[in-house]
Amino acid sequence: MNHASNAPKTKSQNPRLVALRICLAVVQNGRSLSQALGEGLAVLTDRRDRGFAQNLVLGTLRWQLRLEAIRDQLLSKPLKAKDEDVNQLILLGLYQLIYLDTPQHAAVSETVALTAALKKPWAKALLNGLLRNFIRDAESLFAAVDVKPAFAYSHPQWFTKKIREAYPNDWQSILTANNEPAPLTLRINPLVQSRESFLASLHAEHPELNALAHPFSAQGILLEQSTDVSQLPYFEQGGFSVQDGAAQQAGYLLNPQAGERILDACAAPGGKTTHLGELSNNQARIFALEKEPERLERLQENLARLGITATAQTGDASLPDTWWDGELFDKILLDAPCSATGIIRRHPDIKWHRTPEDISALTQLQANILAALWPLLKPGGQMLYATCSVLPDENTEQMQSFLAKEPSASQVPMTQNWGRGDAQHPGKQILPGEAGMDGFYYCLLQKS
Ligand SMILES: C[S@@+](CC[C@H](N)C(=O)[O-])C[C@H]1O[C@@H](n2cnc3c(N)ncnc32)[C@H](O)[C@@H]1O
Repeated sequence: MNHASNAPKTKSQNPRLVALRICLAVVQNGRSLSQALGEGLAVLTDRRDRGFAQNLVLGTLRWQLRLEAIRDQLLSKPLKAKDEDVNQLILLGLYQLIYLDTPQHAAVSETVALTAALKKPWAKALLNGLLRNFIRDAESLFAAVDVKPAFAYSHPQWFTKKIREAYPNDWQSILTANNEPAPLTLRINPLVQSRESFLASLHAEHPELNALAHPFSAQGILLEQSTDVSQLPYFEQGGFSVQDGAAQQAGYLLNPQAGERILDACAAPGGKTTHLGELSNNQARIFALEKEPERLERLQENLARLGITATAQTGDASLPDTWWDGELFDKILLDAPCSATGIIRRHPDIKWHRTPEDISALTQLQANILAALWPLLKPGGQMLYATCSVLPDENTEQMQSFLAKEPSASQVPMTQNWGRGDAQHPGKQILPGEAGMDGFYYCLLQKS
């Protein structure tokens, strides 16, 4: 299933070498996975090679901690820092042997051959011996490594501990879901086409995608297989967006109406801004704010492609004095900057880039933005607080402390049949993997 094409390859067209370079860019140079993937895969002209290289990168990063633990059992002494490329090549080799159905001899010989491209011929024997020792002792190595949950589930120790404490009954399924590939979910644009007609054209033209109506979104379509969406019908005409089913709930919860003045405070790349436009039949007065100018450009492109009208501006949501014109908003969407721990399955580099210190800094930033935006809401207006995090610090605890501080704020009961919540915990939490969705948190607040 994951095999690269068999044609002879030049070095730059070798998908394993391309995968190695992308992994190094993320692990060694701290690049974000989406940027490194976008640039790195572009050199591969064969579609199957691109798919194989992407699979190698995502899989190796997903399983990095477990692979490292296995590697450490097999090395007599650690490699030097300057040999991080050899280190990462070992992980790439182990990943293929453990998780892919590539024949063992091909995985070993193709991986060992890359030592020549690294100009480190001394590593050839090391890699060959290490991978062969792994094949011989795999079962006992797994038994030795998997006693530690952080290794077995391949998540940093601090994060594994936090998730175990927050979800004593579900931590294993959360960590398991984080290591699985995410489905591709579309949101049709009702200003262009109906879900029924788009489903009918997908079934006719792309039966292999097994397109299904999403169980929790009236505009959502789940695709069983990943595909190049720009090749699907109506992409150029703005017939649909790519957006996870959990993220699609924001629009339905805020329920935008014609004529309402709505602030989307952290808006780029505009997945939710454009949904608000679609749901109000392009009649809501949407003000989309974004701190990063480059990301605002992506939002503007999405507005243009989908034919949605909104005022888009750069600005810092925690400093309204610098961008607000003084007119109160009927509704506010605060899709807050967060740890993104609900979307680890799409961005496994989050596991390695995020630190416990980031969580406290983000929690403080979210509290600052909440406090700054609340006065901009009309009495009787609603604010939807959202994160793609699974950490209570950023979600239920953030809302509990806001509700305790702000007497004019109350929680609007949420009766949707997705997610979890109870009387002690404001809002609703979707865990990753629920109905195929990303991990997401929502709390709808009303101003008295
Ligand atoms: C979770 S993403 C938003 C995703 C977007 N709502 C969507 O659905 O496509 C958070 C965004 O907030 C932006 N951001 C971070 N801090 C901000 C601030 N202080 N003011 C405004 N935007 C901010 C980030 O650059 C990022 O684009």
